[in-house]
Amino acid sequence: MTKKHKIAVIGGDGTGPEVVAEGLKVLKVVAKKHNFEYELKDFDFTGQRYLKTGKLVEDKDVEELKTYEAIYLGAVGDPAVKPGIIEHGVLLKLRFALDQYINLRPVILYPNVWTPVKDKGPEQIDFVVVRENTEGLYVGTGGYLKKGSPDEVATQVSVNTRKGVERCLRYAFEYTQKRNKRKQLTLVGKTNVLTYAWDLWERAFHEIGQKDFPGIKREYSHVDATCMWFVKNPEWFDVIVTDNMFGDIITDLGAMIQGGMGIAAGGNINPKGVSMFEPIGGSAPKYTGQNVINPLAAIGALQMLLENIGEDKAAADVEKGIRYACTQMKSMSAGKMGMSTTEVGDTVAKAI
Ligand code: IPM
Ligand code: MN
Repeated sequence: MTKKHKIAVIGGDGTGPEVVAEGLKVLKVVAKKHNFEYELKDFDFTGQRYLKTGKLVEDKDVEELKTYEAIYLGAVGDPAVKPGIIEHGVLLKLRFALDQYINLRPVILYPNVWTPVKDKGPEQIDFVVVRENTEGLYVGTGGYLKKGSPDEVATQVSVNTRKGVERCLRYAFEYTQKRNKRKQLTLVGKTNVLTYAWDLWERAFHEIGQKDFPGIKREYSHVDATCMWFVKNPEWFDVIVTDNMFGDIITDLGAMIQGGMGIAAGGNINPKGVSMFEPIGGSAPKYTGQNVINPLAAIGALQMLLENIGEDKAAADVEKGIRYACTQMKSMSAGKMGMSTTEVGDTVAKAI
């Protein structure tokens, strides 16, 4: 019996719709090959719609999205809209409202992809970052005192709940077990300075690890040192777990060592709800409509989406297609790929 998957599509701003179109091209091919059906619905959550209607993601949209199996997102960010509005009104709104408490970001260097890290290759760059996605500095707690005066005070508070930290750690331990590579989970924090938040994280990390995951090796690394190791010894990492802000920062560095934003994919995951998959780079407005942006990150996000909805064989095929495309492309950077956006999509689709 074939199953019909319901997938919500948010092309978004800038080059988002172009890269999503390539992902959907690949979806069509793997669905046929692996004999499953799907229905898509486009959601217009963009800067352009916001400028016309003042609307971004509303509560009723969230309710509708809850009826989907997964969400496929292109990009958010439009230079015509003040920074922060679409980010909060679309991306962060969905992460929070759908309680997507994990942001899963693999850092994998595929063969033939250039890395700026000298003397390191696919053998050395192969790890996954599990970023907490609904707490920390992203909750929006804080405010001003005496705003606009010389005595102005601004606070921005990092909120870390035992529940929120614990569910993220458990996910990371389980993921490390399932990944079954080096069985090593590294907590990335700042225990030497941020002594309340990271004390909570550290205690929970060791308690949960000791009690429920004795087979997983536990490591700890400060976030600043982690940036150093990403460049010097990326092979030291298997799975990393960290908070929202640190995860945001280190995964941009992670994306660079795996070949750039053109190849880095991620998933905003609610293990019991609706998850959302996206290329982690931005909307790249200056490349919009030129057919030069790299769609592999979006195709990688499709791979993660397929794994999430249980189409593992299709996902594995998409990965094979991505690996093949990497061997045919000159570069992962927009405009330098030696192919157009649509040709990269075609190359992946044909390989499948
Ligand atoms: C990311 C982005 C977002 C974040 C922005 C666009 C709100 O940088 O997904 O990493 O900070 O999480
Ligand atoms: Mn980011």
